[in-house]
Amino acid sequence: MAFDTILIGKFYFQGQFRDLEIGIRNGLIEKIGKDLKGGIRKELEGAIFPSGTDTHVHFRDPGETHKEDFSTGTISAAYGGTTTIFDMPNNITPISDYAAFDDKLHTVRNRAYVDFGLYSLFNGKNSQLIDKRSSSIKIYLGGSTNSIPVGDIQDKELRGLSELGKPVVFHGEDAVCLARHKNDEVHSLSDHEHSRPEICEAESARAILKLGIGRSLMGHISTPNSLDILQGKVKGEVTPHHLLLNTDSESGSWGKVNPPLRNKNTQENNLQAYLDGKFDLLSSDHAPHTEHDKEEFPQAPSGIIGVETRIPLLLALVQKKVLSFEVFYNTAIRNPAEFMGIRKGKLEVGYFADFFSFRLSNVKRLNQERLHSKTPVSPFNEFPVVFPDDVTLRGELLIESGELVEDRIGRHVEELK
Ligand code: DOR
Ligand code: ZN
Repeated sequence: MAFDTILIGKFYFQGQFRDLEIGIRNGLIEKIGKDLKGGIRKELEGAIFPSGTDTHVHFRDPGETHKEDFSTGTISAAYGGTTTIFDMPNNITPISDYAAFDDKLHTVRNRAYVDFGLYSLFNGKNSQLIDKRSSSIKIYLGGSTNSIPVGDIQDKELRGLSELGKPVVFHGEDAVCLARHKNDEVHSLSDHEHSRPEICEAESARAILKLGIGRSLMGHISTPNSLDILQGKVKGEVTPHHLLLNTDSESGSWGKVNPPLRNKNTQENNLQAYLDGKFDLLSSDHAPHTEHDKEEFPQAPSGIIGVETRIPLLLALVQKKVLSFEVFYNTAIRNPAEFMGIRKGKLEVGYFADFFSFRLSNVKRLNQERLHSKTPVSPFNEFPVVFPDDVTLRGELLIESGELVEDRIGRHVEELK
């Protein structure tokens, strides 16, 4: 047979939805056309995009698997139309040397339902210890959950980082500035915001720009002011929560996150910048914590779940005609894959056959009880969402009519390059 599978449907191709047939062999797109012969034919209903890539999740595995593990995390991703995730290195044992990386890779690889890459943590002095199988490097310029800030980086270390040739993602809140505003008595989203004000993000954006690392990204930007500072020289990432939630949210500690949710005005400006195509990547910053962790606002750790709702929330904005297909596709699908250097996110010969189908008419209210995270409490509960119907990973059907139908076939992306 010419192909293993032929997928038939309305695919997003060169900026439009077109009736096409996709010939797939060994998980790769081999032919794009019509009337293809030879292969098991499968028609997908609705409209079809290449699946999403989420470059920013915290699946807590190994070390805090009571919060999430690689199975629950990757199942959540699959249901949300994301077939590749990149997991952050702020595990209880930070992923900052070969041994920690190797241990994590061995632990998670047989639990993955979708493809994955792993970050290593740069702590200011370990550029020579970073495992070459890392997909990317994380740098915390300010402290957050399980992480200490880096401070000034020596030239020797900067050279070491650049020799690794990996994309670099920054947590952009300046540590000195955060220390200046520190307040342990925060009782509301607004208090939390005041304790980590916008100027700390701005100071960090200036520091990131000054470092001048080539392929770099500032994570979870909460105000368009940061984009102005970066001048397009460093890429900008945004999360659904910094687009759609603000300090008026009634989610209490479940909306406590770093960088914090901003006031309504800043949030609306951030959303407008996104709709105008000014952000490069849309990531979830999926950061689960338990009910017990989140009980008391002042002590609650920061973090919001989101890997499963990232695409559905944004598709609902497309349905409302607030967001264009183009900006959605570029930020949630194409750019994240391109930034990480994987052959995903495009309908192109030689790329992996990862797709999801959806119907905009299928808009529903989010019911958090149906999410697959270990603690499925979401500040987006009741928000409009459009979930995918079918999802494929390298040609295999992973989700069919909204239900998981495959086992743990996720692979380490560095072995797929
Ligand atoms: O809110 C956050 N939670 N921000 C971070 O930077 C880390 C994350 C986590 O790991 O919980
Ligand atoms: Zn994060």
